[in-house]
Amino acid sequence: MTILVTGGAGFIGANFVLDWFQHHDEPVVNLDKLTYAGNLQNLASLEGDARHIFVRGDINDRPLVERLLSAHEVRAIVHFAAESHVDRSIHGPEEFITTNVNGTFHLLEAARAYWSDLPEKRRAAFRFLHVSTDEVYGSLELGEAPFRETTCFAPNSPYAASKAASDHLVRAWHHTYGLPVLITHCSNNYGPYQFPEKFIPLMILNARAGKPLPIYGDGRNIRDWLYVSDHCAALRRVLEAGRPGETYNIGGCNEKTNLEVVQAICALLDRLAPEGAPHSRLITFVEDRPGHDRRYAIDAGRIQRELGWTPQESFATGLEKTVRWYLAHDDWVQSVTSGAYRDWIERHYGASFPPQSGPPGVA
Ligand code: NAD
Ligand code: TYD
Repeated sequence: MTILVTGGAGFIGANFVLDWFQHHDEPVVNLDKLTYAGNLQNLASLEGDARHIFVRGDINDRPLVERLLSAHEVRAIVHFAAESHVDRSIHGPEEFITTNVNGTFHLLEAARAYWSDLPEKRRAAFRFLHVSTDEVYGSLELGEAPFRETTCFAPNSPYAASKAASDHLVRAWHHTYGLPVLITHCSNNYGPYQFPEKFIPLMILNARAGKPLPIYGDGRNIRDWLYVSDHCAALRRVLEAGRPGETYNIGGCNEKTNLEVVQAICALLDRLAPEGAPHSRLITFVEDRPGHDRRYAIDAGRIQRELGWTPQESFATGLEKTVRWYLAHDDWVQSVTSGAYRDWIERHYGASFPPQSGPPGVA
């Protein structure tokens, strides 16, 4: 048997594929369009490994997906492929609808066609695992209870809205057609291979290069951080033992303000790469993100109770591993921070610099 992973050349998908082969010999068909966020270098260690079958293609290409499902006798789909960056969704939302909404629709239809024709035993064992985000729940105030699986959806960014739409489709394909789906909502991930448009790798690389560390607004927005290998372990567990039709929230119980995260990165760099110390001198407050969600926090009680999953990394251990990884992988950094990446940084941050002198409201 085989699993089909979509978006397996991106940050979490690549970590998942690498992690999968640490635990299984079951082959993976990896379908990825290789957008700016997909990078085969993330999977370089699998070169020549017959268990990994990479296919460059789009989840919107239903005939291709149907061919792959049949040809490889796929028993489960793990669906990561998405446009994933909130700031990009603000600049240009269309691609988020095309991939996250339409793409998920076409993938569901391909899965349904294939699954409907399977013999009964394989039909019952088939799974469609949809990897979603906590951002579909909207924003919490300080002191409000963390998101549970029953929290109402209230997506605020085009990215979050497109993921929420895809979650609704997945839910409906279970309810209406009986497709055995599983949905997960995870909090912010960090770790190796994360594209440096996202907060943690951007801050590590900018600090390393002596560039400003652009913090949106007052830096007090809160995210609940999870080391990526803990997310991968949770997904393996959900695939193995999750109940079809069920939703599982995944999070690390690591709520931090953005300022706390940047200060922790600076302190690590002061110790591990002291030539630029103190790196915190680079902290720069810039114009806030439009509609910036104030706080995300996950209640991961269900997956802990029902499936026995708990994260292995604390924020301190995970962040140190991450900083060390970026310091040791200059070749990877060079390859992903070329042409198109520079254009994005220029487009997005260009107007924000020179910086404000301090967080709004602070003299
Ligand atoms: P990413 O942007 O790093 O990777 C996305 C991958 O999908 C890339 O390899 C890209 O080439 C591929 N892709 C994009 N459009 C495609 C298409 N039409 N067809 C096939 N492949 C396509 O994203 P990520 O951070 O690894 O996130 C993966 C998934 O996890 C997403 O669904 C995201 O919503 C979800 N998620 C992410 C986080 C996070 O903190 N990064 C947290 C919770 C959930
Ligand atoms: P990000 O990594 O884009 O994840 P998300 O918006 O999906 O949570 O951002 C994490 C937090 O960091 C978020 O509150 C926005 C903030 N942020 C900055 O302050 N500066 C930046 O340059 C970026 C990219 C993000």
